Order: sequence, then structure tokens, then C-alpha cells
Amino acid sequence: MKRINQLLLAFLFLFLFVSCKNEFNPSTEYSLIPLPYSVREDAMSFELNNDTRIIFSGDDLENSSEILQKYIHNLSEIKPVILSQSETKDLNNVILLSTVGFEDRLGKEGYRIIVDKDKVIIKSNDSDGIFYAVQTLYQLFELEQLNANQNTLIIPAIRLWDEPRFSYRGMHLDVGRHFFDVEFIKHYLDLMAYYKFNTFHWHLTEDQGWRIEIKKYPKLTEVGAWRTEADGSRYGGFYTQEEIKEIVAYAKNLHITVIPEIEMPGHSRAALAAYPEFSCTEKALDVPNNWGVFEDIYCAGNDKTFEFIEDVLDEVIALFPGQYIHIGGDEAPKARWKECAKCQALMHKEALENEHELQSYFIKRINKYLTSKGKKLMGWDEILEGGLAENATVMSWRGMEGGIAAARQGNQVVMTPTSHCYFDYYQADRAFEPKAIGGYLPLKRVYDFEPVPEDLFTEQKSLILGAQGNVWTEYMHTPDHIEYMILPRMLALSEVLWGSKKNNNWESFQVRLQDHFKLFDNKGFRYSKGTYRINFEMKFDSVKNQNFVNISSEQYQPKIFYSLNGSKPDTSSYLYKSAITVSAEDSIIRAGIFENGKLIHGLSTFDLGNE
Ligand code: ACM
Ligand code: ZN
Repeated sequence: MKRINQLLLAFLFLFLFVSCKNEFNPSTEYSLIPLPYSVREDAMSFELNNDTRIIFSGDDLENSSEILQKYIHNLSEIKPVILSQSETKDLNNVILLSTVGFEDRLGKEGYRIIVDKDKVIIKSNDSDGIFYAVQTLYQLFELEQLNANQNTLIIPAIRLWDEPRFSYRGMHLDVGRHFFDVEFIKHYLDLMAYYKFNTFHWHLTEDQGWRIEIKKYPKLTEVGAWRTEADGSRYGGFYTQEEIKEIVAYAKNLHITVIPEIEMPGHSRAALAAYPEFSCTEKALDVPNNWGVFEDIYCAGNDKTFEFIEDVLDEVIALFPGQYIHIGGDEAPKARWKECAKCQALMHKEALENEHELQSYFIKRINKYLTSKGKKLMGWDEILEGGLAENATVMSWRGMEGGIAAARQGNQVVMTPTSHCYFDYYQADRAFEPKAIGGYLPLKRVYDFEPVPEDLFTEQKSLILGAQGNVWTEYMHTPDHIEYMILPRMLALSEVLWGSKKNNNWESFQVRLQDHFKLFDNKGFRYSKGTYRINFEMKFDSVKNQNFVNISSEQYQPKIFYSLNGSKPDTSSYLYKSAITVSAEDSIIRAGIFENGKLIHGLSTFDLGNE
């Protein structure tokens, strides 16, 4: 009997263990995005008051201490005093930020938070990890305040440890097609930091605008930063070097590295409008006001072109302390090179078989220059064509294949395939979305992104540094439109990049996202409600000789009400539970998601007669 009891007990424990593991529990996750590696409930929460102090112990922690102080003061009346641990023995009522005492499993960006009644201890090996812990606290404060009616600040009773899956967590922004001012770039960086991104890829030069002041070549911005729009108006702008420094410093404070992109040999019409002598034809060109890929590119057969580019890069290198300089390399048509005597002469001299090899020559020459200056070259996957430069890092955008090929050659890779990372694509049914460049990239597809291809060997997999969301701005004219295109998709990407494969879970993300929608509303951010968009799918069951329609959305357990006769549904209409059988009398399905009795984001229609 005793044995059976023991066996039963063992089964009970096993059952509890298995069910705890499988059942996600939103309440223990506190709606944090990206999901921390491990959050455990603990006994005591910590409530901040006017006497709470921030104590730091370790190098380079003043800035995270000040950022934490600022966040706390933004959300409450409290403004904690900041002290170094050498200045006090009293560790009562403190938030302690410490990098003293190495802990192997935390890495450089990982951190630990331990909450007690009279103190909160935050540990990391590095100031990076302390910074991310502060971001987590900031989210916890804001999420707690969503559900509380007062301005108290509570750190819940948790024991948390966390670390990112990938070291490269990027967001890109094209400021060439449309220009965005310093204030907005700072806002973009703030958003990135909040979701634990660490790399800002700043696409600074384009056909339609050159956006960075270069002192040796003033016409780049006098001429290249401005275009005449179809209606005759002038459009443009650029960042002075002082503004660039301001942004780079602002980003550094948020533990974000800025990678500048200076496009070559293509996407260079604005530069050639300013200095036509560096094109193959040397003919006058304007700064175009339309989108596309242009045939006029830098002349590769002219040594003066390389002098010019190296001069530009010298000034760029002086402004950006990060290791990478992105040189573009994408979408460079070879038509001009084919007809240019200088380019052809160089090909002959260097025994280059074709214009792809000339492009490879071009990039390798720049790679050599950057390497000599202690920098690393990054480029779009076209830099593989005609032979990849040694040590270059490839940004794979035309799918994953370029990244796979680069990793097989031993080069590092950042994944940004159009299929999962192009935030200029539509995020829901385009009939309901503002005009975009095309494509279709709903939230769940971003969430399901796996940056590391299965068919690489282990050591090749380790060359995949991470991924990045790309924001091309042909159809984004205003800051709030950019917010709309990146929110909420950048949250899904942040969880792909920071979260662990083991823990990430779409349903849990959907639940946590609801609180972030509330935060967006409170902060006045514009964001897509594409998750509320209804998708219809008709299926034919050949056994039953019946048509079925599935209705779905990306919202978590949505209340979908629908009608079958084209009438406007409300909460007294049918509530959708599972696939509906449709018959000959049914004509048009109209459906919408309702919350608290109210339609949330318009009705969607499915015409059975047309299917
Ligand atoms: C790209 O989207 N042309 C890199
Ligand atoms: Zn040429």
C-alpha cells in the first residue's frame, strides 16, 4: 500500500511538473517584452519611497544610475539619491547596481535582479547588463502602473535572470528617401533601448538624398541633400557633424552602437548630382524624386572616385566609434560600367572577367582601406557577387541564402531577409493599411522568424550574429508613420533576438502585447492594429461535401462576432467559436473583433460568391 502511495505521489509530482512547464502563466511574466530568460516568483516586493537610494558598485555605472533615476522621476515624485558604494555602508532601502564579482552565465549583456523587502540587488558582469536590467525595471514600473491607480512604484516579488540570445539586435532607418530630424532619431533610439536593441543601422546616403555633412565636399549636402518634388517644392535636409556626434553620444548612453551606411557603388545619385565627375559619363544629373534603382553609379575605373570615397570615409570614421562601417553594395546596375572606357580599361588591367568581378574589386579595395583604419566592412548580400572580401560582414536581405553562403565561407552574417524583417511591408490586409511599398509581413511571421538556418554546421551557425528590422521610407513621410510601421513588429523581433528559443511562445507574446498596446496608447504612440484584422479561409471537406470558413486574427482569444447575410454584426450576432459551415443561402460573411461590447478595428467582409 505504501509503495502504491509513493508511486501515486511520484506520478502527481511528475504531472504537476509537466503541467507547470507546458502551461504558460502570464501573471508570472509581468508582460515584459522581450521575455526574460527566467522569472521566478519570490516572497517580498519592494516599494520605492522618498528615501530610496540608488547605489552603484563597479565601473561605468553612473550613466545607468542616472537613467534609472530619470525613469523613476518620470513616473513618480520620487528622485532617488545616487551614491557610490564606497560612500555608504547602509544598504537599507536601496537599489544596488553592481558589477563586482564575475558570474559566468550572465555574459556581458545578461543580468540578475533579486528583490527583497528592503532592497533590490542588480548584478551583471558589465555595465551593458546593468543597463538592460534598468530597462527591465522601467518596463516593470510602467506595467505595474497600468494596473494600479496611484503613482506608487513597486518592484514585484521576483527573482529574475536574463541574457540575450543574439549579440546583434538591430533596427535600421532610411533617412534618404525621407528625412527625420535629430529629435525623432532620439525617440527611435529610446524605443530601441526599451526593447533591448543594441545596434542602430543609419542609412545616411541614398539616390534621393545625401544626409551627412562632409566638410571636404560641401556640395554633397548643398546639392545632394535637396531634391525638387513633382509639385515643384524643395524637399531635403541633412545632419551636421555636430548633430551626428550628438546622436552617437545619445545612442552610446543607451548602449546602442550606430553603424553608418555610406552607399556604394550604387544608390549614389545624390552624390553624383553634387560631383558628376565621379560617374562614368561625368554628365550633370539631378537628385531624383522618384523611387527605384538608377543606372548612374560611381565610376570604378577612375582613381579619383576612390580618393573621394576614402576622404568621405575618413570623416565618417572620425564620427562613428563603432567597429562597423556599412558600405551598401546592393542594387548596383552594371550598364554604365559596361560602356565606360575607364571601367573597361581597369577590368583589362586587373584581368577581371565581368562587371560583377569589378564590383567585387571595388568592395575589396574599400575593405582594404577600412581595415587599414581599424574598421570592419559590412555590406548587403550583393557583396558576395564576384567574390566576397575577407572579413566582411554580410547583411542578408534577399532571403537567407546570401547569409548561408557567407557563413559557409567563414564570414559573419546579420540576417535581414525581406520575408521576415522588412518593416516597410504591409502588416495586414492592404485594403485597410496606409500605402506601403508592397509585400506582406504580419506580426506572427516576424515572431516566427528563426535567424539561424538549420542547414549550417555548428561553427557556421555561430557566425550568425543576429538580425535586424529594416525601415525603408519611400512611403513613410512622418515620424508617426514610422512608429506605425515598427509598432508592434519591432516587439516581435526583439523577442526573436533577445528571448530564448526554449521560452518564446506566441500565445504568451500575444497576451503580453495587450499591455504594450495600453502603454502605446498612454504614451501617444501610433501603432498598427493589424492584429485585429480578420482573416478568412474557406476549406472544402470532400467527405461531407461541405464548405467551411475559418475566421482568425492575430489577437489573443478574440471575441469575433459575425453575420452570414452581409448585415453589420454586433454583439448580438453569432459569436465565432470554430470553423463555420456555409451553405448556398449564405452570401457575405461580415466579421469584427469586439472588446467590452465595442467593435475595435472595423469590419472585414468575405464574399462567398466570389470564392
Ligand atoms: C535593400 O533592400 N536594397 C538592401
Ligand atoms: Zn566608369
